[in-house]
Amino acid sequence: MAKKTPQPTTPPRERAFLVGVEIHNQHKHLSLDDSLAELALLADTAGVDVVGELTQKLSHPHVETYIGPGKVQELLALAEETLCDVIIFDDELSPRHQRELEKALGLKIRVIDRTALILDIFAQHAHTKEGMLQVELAQYEYNLPRLTRAWTHLERQAGGGGGRAGSTGGVGLRGPGETQLEVDRRDIRKRISYIKKELEKVEAHRLRYRAQRKRSRIPTVALVGYTNAGKSTLLNRLSKSDVYAADQLFATLDPTTRRVQLPADNVALITDTVGFIQKLPTTLIAAFHATLEEIAEADLLLHVVDISHPNALGQFEAVQETLEEIGAGHIPMITALNKADRLKDPENAKRVLQSFEKSVAISATKGTGIEDLLHLMQEELFESYTAIHVRLPYKEGALISLFHELGQVERIEHERGGVMMQGRIPGRLLAQFSPFYAKSNGNKIIEIEESDLEQI
Ligand code: GTP
Repeated sequence: MAKKTPQPTTPPRERAFLVGVEIHNQHKHLSLDDSLAELALLADTAGVDVVGELTQKLSHPHVETYIGPGKVQELLALAEETLCDVIIFDDELSPRHQRELEKALGLKIRVIDRTALILDIFAQHAHTKEGMLQVELAQYEYNLPRLTRAWTHLERQAGGGGGRAGSTGGVGLRGPGETQLEVDRRDIRKRISYIKKELEKVEAHRLRYRAQRKRSRIPTVALVGYTNAGKSTLLNRLSKSDVYAADQLFATLDPTTRRVQLPADNVALITDTVGFIQKLPTTLIAAFHATLEEIAEADLLLHVVDISHPNALGQFEAVQETLEEIGAGHIPMITALNKADRLKDPENAKRVLQSFEKSVAISATKGTGIEDLLHLMQEELFESYTAIHVRLPYKEGALISLFHELGQVERIEHERGGVMMQGRIPGRLLAQFSPFYAKSNGNKIIEIEESDLEQI
């Protein structure tokens, strides 16, 4: 008698209800509707079906349940009607909000927030050891104060013994599981300190690699941009390589570095970085600080903007804000207005271009504008010179010869312990010289005072 072979079944997608709140006088880059549309896209990327949404305008979040008690009842009725498994809030909820909401909703439906959702997506997309450790750390730190009931993320990690952070296939929002309730906070703290130590080791290795790269003097360019702007596609186009690009949020999480051939026979190293997003959770910024530092160390930022997106400007500003936050606000930047092929009216691109300094309209998929972009990069990295005035101790011999080799020295004076040099250097070298600036006022150089000489 023939036996039926059991067919592998894909678990049904979870059903989610979205909740967005507009707080009076709170500045946001996206409107409530746009922010919820983005949340729906995030949910889809995490593999969850959105079955409805609810919004409320408030002057302050409700102390206990974030939304008002009346809205909670409305939400409960809607959630039951739509058979939803999980409610996703667009804002970061405090552990208390989350607890109270779950209590009010009868503990049958889980309540999570944007941060938990993003963490879940990150867990699915981390591939390198460092990326996985960073996500795992962020998940534990996020979950620790919320440990009163089961969380799938935590359950998977706690049982996973340091394996891939939280994503063993499927959606990643399923739960709760009984075992989680027994997880001891102390064990989690131990795990957190173990991950931190592991991360230190991986980071030390990367720092050595970064130092090597600096010595090789090949300038570095960091690709930054809002998630889905087309950074990976552009990296592929520029380096003629094959990096995974998908119409999903945060498809690339781990930095990928490639060599790019510039006009005039110059080369640069270009690194794809994690996609930015409005309300990038603070836990994530903390966990990814090492990766984000890569950006702050770059000689040039290439900001990719999806110009066909209705909120291109809001996305641009959200990225700028995060760049400031991670200390990369001072790095020279050029802007690539991508997906220009989608614009119905190319004149539009010209108008938009005018509002961005050093920008070029491109299509990473079609290849248009790429030559212009390469020329702009060449110009910024190798042809634009900045006036500087530095005091370099003799032990910084490498910098002294770098100034001679690649800069234009206008004045040099030997002083006690070092040299004072004045002249112009390519903008990409500024970061290396900045610790040695003599007194200056913006770009204007002011006279050296006698007392400064003592410091060398
Ligand atoms: P994250 O990993 O989320 O940060 O995304 P990313 O910025 O690396 O974007 P990615 O390169 O993965 O591209 C996102 C989607 O946009 C993909 O479906 C690409 O095919 C598409 N895309 C990228 N560039 C262009 C373009 O110039 N024109 C059009 N029409 N689509 C593009």
